[in-house]
Amino acid sequence: MVFLPQEVIAKKRDGGKLTNKEIKNFIDGFTHKSVSDAQAAAFAMAVYFQHMDIEERVALTKAMRDSGSVLDWSELNGPVVDKHSTGGVGDNVSLMLAPILAACDTYVPMISGRGLGHTGGTLDKFDSIPGYTATPDNALFRKTVKEIGCAIIGQTDDLAPADRALYALRDVTGTVENISLITASILSKKLAAGLDILVLDVKIGSGAFMKTKEDAQGLANSLVKVANDAGVKTAAIITDMNEPLASAAGNGLEVRNAVDFLTGKAQDKRLLDVTLALAAQTLLMAKRVGNIEAGLKMAGDALSSGEALDRFSRMVTALGGPADFVENMDRDLEVAPIIRDVFAKETGTITSILTKDVGMAVVALGGGRRMPTDKIDHAVGFDRLARIGDKVAKNVPIARIHARDETSAAEAIQRLSAAYHLDGEAEQNPLIAQTILPDES
Ligand code: URA
Repeated sequence: MVFLPQEVIAKKRDGGKLTNKEIKNFIDGFTHKSVSDAQAAAFAMAVYFQHMDIEERVALTKAMRDSGSVLDWSELNGPVVDKHSTGGVGDNVSLMLAPILAACDTYVPMISGRGLGHTGGTLDKFDSIPGYTATPDNALFRKTVKEIGCAIIGQTDDLAPADRALYALRDVTGTVENISLITASILSKKLAAGLDILVLDVKIGSGAFMKTKEDAQGLANSLVKVANDAGVKTAAIITDMNEPLASAAGNGLEVRNAVDFLTGKAQDKRLLDVTLALAAQTLLMAKRVGNIEAGLKMAGDALSSGEALDRFSRMVTALGGPADFVENMDRDLEVAPIIRDVFAKETGTITSILTKDVGMAVVALGGGRRMPTDKIDHAVGFDRLARIGDKVAKNVPIARIHARDETSAAEAIQRLSAAYHLDGEAEQNPLIAQTILPDES
């Protein structure tokens, strides 16, 4: 029977369950332009209201994965692993996790994204390193993964192109916030990267897209179930985003924070705990260790021995950055013209932080985009961010601001001060709320 896209749209609109063939035909047609943008947007809206069950989500994920090339790493003699975070503020985990995992004899071809809304993006962070190319040719990408163990790059044109086109339509048709579509979108890109193992950092709280535990669990369960059914061994860790994870937020400042973390000069405790938890879960699934404790030890040793720092440094150099970046980052990372302390309005203890607003303060400084075409200012943001439970006063700062000019500094200071609350009881949120394992989703 001839395939008619309008029949698939109408079936989903009326609450029907689509067959694998219907989903594949629809996505193939969209990729090859025999399904129009209008039909794809109507399809997204039908899914938005009627949802998809797990089987349909797996079919959609695989169809979008197969819309472009799927990487093959069979020449490597070790597990191919990656992490995906649902996004937060001061979330520079990937910069440390990829080299830690590479130092533990796994391969990490990490395909990362740019900032979205109030959240930072790994690629924008790497762009603050002069010369670093996030879009190497395929040969350099493969060579870097093979020889160094990790390469952090951006999405290439031929990786899940159907997702890129559908996401652009969803973005302007009010159809982003749907678990079926989000699951297939995230996983199609990860599956196209040819992974054996995936660990997901699903963020929850005031700086996350998922504000409640129920929402975070719903997304984590969907991602874990669909990824495993599609053939990639996957677990999710639900982690707290009710305050920035690192004490820095802003692209170059988070790179500096990551290098200090890798050298051991300064390690934010919450960042260390989340990074090691994700590493340990990955190493366990990759069978590099027999239990989580052994994974924590292996990852911790990779860090303290300097091996992870060495992988990071070699990766930066291989992808075009300075050979001595980690030794001389003060020379290479641009410094903002205005650097000054931000003080609390009164004396007290920080009880909660509107973390999304901290991210928006970074955007207001120019560290994120207002329009998709905006250029990012890599020098701006905050460091020395105070944490929930810290005592502050009119002469004890809540952060240090890095700004391009006085106008943006004044606005960002106002936004940051309003985001820090000193009233009531201090919030107590578990850093690691839950781990969802492959067979539990
Ligand atoms: N990130 C993605 O890659 N896709 C979504 O749909 C949402 C967030």
